[in-house]
Amino acid sequence: MRFERGEDRENEIARAADLLRAGDLVAFPTETVYGLGADASNPDAVRKIFAAKGRPAEHPVIVHLPSVERLEHWAKDIPKEVYTLAETFWAGPLTLILKRSARVSNAVTGGQDTVGVRVPGHPLALKLLEAFGGGLAAPSANRFGRISPTMAAHVRAELGDKVEMILDGGACAVGLESTILDMSSARARLLRPGAISLSQLAEVLGEEPLVGTDMNTGKGKESVPKAPGTLESHYAPATPVMIAESLTDYLGENRGKKLAVLARSQQPAWLESERWLILPGMPEAYGRELYAGLRELDEAACDEIVVEAVPDLPEWLAVRDRLRRAATKVVPNDGSF
Ligand code: TXA
Ligand code: MG
Repeated sequence: MRFERGEDRENEIARAADLLRAGDLVAFPTETVYGLGADASNPDAVRKIFAAKGRPAEHPVIVHLPSVERLEHWAKDIPKEVYTLAETFWAGPLTLILKRSARVSNAVTGGQDTVGVRVPGHPLALKLLEAFGGGLAAPSANRFGRISPTMAAHVRAELGDKVEMILDGGACAVGLESTILDMSSARARLLRPGAISLSQLAEVLGEEPLVGTDMNTGKGKESVPKAPGTLESHYAPATPVMIAESLTDYLGENRGKKLAVLARSQQPAWLESERWLILPGMPEAYGRELYAGLRELDEAACDEIVVEAVPDLPEWLAVRDRLRRAATKVVPNDGSF
C-alpha cells in the first residue's frame, strides 16, 4: 500500500486517479461508508475487487458517477422520475437500480440486466471521480459479509494489504450504506433502507415504493439475489450479536457470560460489564456511530455483543435493518425465543 503522510491532497487525488486508470484498487470515502474502487469499465480491475473482498462473483457492484450527466452512459430506458430523484437526492446516499446499457460489463452487474448507480455526497469522492473521469465500481471496503468501514483505519485493518491506496476522508457522515431503490421496473421498489427514507422517496415519486426484494416476497426467477446485501449473513461482527428488547432482563439472565453491551441507556450500578458503549439517542447519530461501535466491541473478545433494541419507528428503519442482519438472535421482552 502506498500512502504517504503529509502528501498534498491534489497530488494524492491525481495519483489515485492514475492508479485507477492502471487497473488498480483505491479505497475512498463516501458519505455513507468507505468504498473499494476500481475502474468500472475495466472488467479485470473490477474482478480484483471480488478477489480482495473474498466476495462471490455473481454479486453486482454499484457504479459511482461524478454527476447525473454520466447516467446515460451506464443505463438505458431511464424513467423520467429518475431525473427528479437524482436532482433531489444526488450527490447523496441513494443508489438507483436501472436497466443496464450494453457497455456495462457482467463483472459489474453480476450478469443481471440492471446496474446500480449513484453520485456520492463526499467532496473527496467527487474530486476523485472528476479526476478519474469515469465510473468507479465500488462496494463497501470490507471483507465479504463483515461490517462496512466508516473510517480509513477500518479499511486499513481489513484490506490494507490488498489495496494500492486508501484516501482518508475522515469519519463517514451517514455511517450506513445508501438507500437502494430499484427503478428498473414499473413500480419503484426499496431494496435496502438507508438515510433517504421511504417518505422522502414517496414525496418525489408521488406514491410509496414497494418494500423488499423479490427474494423476500418469494417471487422472481433468479437464484441470484436481487440485492445480495440483503442476505442475512451480511454486516456481521465475528462475535455473536444478541438484540435484547429488555436489556436489564437479558443481562440479569446472562450474568455468567462475558458481555459487551451496545446500549442506549446508562450502565446500571449492579452491573460491572466488561464493555458498555452508549450510542446516541437519535437515529441519524446512532447510525453514524453504529459500525465503529460494533467493531470496537468485536475487538473486546467477549462471548457476546448485546445490543439494546432500538424503537420500531420509521426513522429507525435503516438502523433496525442493519442490526437485524448483524444479529445472531433477537431476544424478545418476555425472554422466550
Ligand atoms: O453506500 C453504499 O451504497 C456503499 C458506498 C461505497 O457507495 N456501497 C455499498 O456497496 O454498500 P455494496 O456492494 O457493499 O452493496 C451494494 C448493494 C449490494 O447489496 C448489491 O447486491 C446491490 O447493491 N446492487 C448493486 N447492483 C445491483 C443491481 N444491479 N441490482 C440489484 N442490486 C444491486
Ligand atoms: Mg457491502
